[in-house]
Amino acid sequence: MENLIPLSVPNLSGNEWKYIKECLDTNWVSSVGSFVDKFEKDFAEYVGAKYAVSVVNGTAALHMALQIAGVEQNDYVIAPNITFIASINAIKYCYAFPILIDVLSDTWQMDVDLLEDFLKNNTYQENDTCYLKENKRRIKAIMPVHVLGNMCEMDKIMQLAEQYKLSVIEDSTEALGSFYKNQHAGTFGKMGCFSFNGNKIMTTGGGGMIVTNDEKLAKRAKHLTTQAKSDSFEYIHDDVGYNYRLVNILAAMGVAQLEQMPDFLKRKKEIHQYYTENLKNLPLSFQKDTENSKPNYWLFTICIEKQKELMTYLIERKIQVRPFWRPMNMLDMFKNDIYVSKEDNAFKIYEKSVSLPCSTNITDQELEKVVQTVRNFYQ
Ligand SMILES: Cc1ncc(COP(=O)(O)O)c(C=O)c1O
Repeated sequence: MENLIPLSVPNLSGNEWKYIKECLDTNWVSSVGSFVDKFEKDFAEYVGAKYAVSVVNGTAALHMALQIAGVEQNDYVIAPNITFIASINAIKYCYAFPILIDVLSDTWQMDVDLLEDFLKNNTYQENDTCYLKENKRRIKAIMPVHVLGNMCEMDKIMQLAEQYKLSVIEDSTEALGSFYKNQHAGTFGKMGCFSFNGNKIMTTGGGGMIVTNDEKLAKRAKHLTTQAKSDSFEYIHDDVGYNYRLVNILAAMGVAQLEQMPDFLKRKKEIHQYYTENLKNLPLSFQKDTENSKPNYWLFTICIEKQKELMTYLIERKIQVRPFWRPMNMLDMFKNDIYVSKEDNAFKIYEKSVSLPCSTNITDQELEKVVQTVRNFYQ
């Protein structure tokens, strides 16, 4: 649409054409090729993990990571109540159930004190396994989600995971380039998952990555995501595998995008600073950085009482905006799942949230227009 200022769109100003052309010229377009290997190697290096396995999207990454971590039918997986649906769907793909934990009102990340209370009062351990008292079902894992590229309090989560014998699978899909205590998102737990969906800080159109420091888990991820083929020549398979691999063309795009991450991060930070500086005197609030974190400032989001009115006002003026995801406990499929909350911060944030345009290729003039339009709304 002409003159529309989009919310968060791809920025393809690097070597994308060149590398994709190389795939086309050499006929290596499909499920194997040098770019797949290079992308995995470069990515692992970038986040500081030993291994990276590329997959079709972030949802598949989460599904595989949970399955490989041993999540089985009727297990529980702890996750925040504010996240994109894919996190909780991935739990359901394993025939497991989420235990939804409310988020903090300021950082919008999983409330670890609430989580600690819950684990203390509602679980017991037997043979190094954690069970829910109520029905004696196993709690297998925690899935922290680094919401909007801000970070969860990973120290505390790792400590609780150890104490209660839970595997940690990080949903870092929004947190490429984010750090907690100088350690990259996705490298704290058993496995970390990333997304290269079109709206993310870098994109391959669609794509994802699983990272881990455990060679066995990496090999298992590669095997399961490539149809579990156990013979290099004959069609012999030793498990029910998945066709979840990322194709060479998209990996080529990934290599080109990853090269630009320093520029993307720089621009995201500038956008964040510009908005916070220029909107600070208005009756709205911002997401607070988690202490000791260095977020990637992926999606700039404000909270405002007149959410619906502001969204309509901005959309009418060709500024694309979005509310936050509806909290998971409010969706039909998950409304009967356990939700641990004192004040339902998830809902309070949801009903006030507005994400503003923040593509890395947004111009300064467009940023000014967004700020001016929000200001005009108040006049
Ligand atoms: C928090 C979260 N989890 C999971 C996903 C799923 O990633 P994908 O869209 O690549 O499947 C996304 C992004 O889309 C996300 O934002």
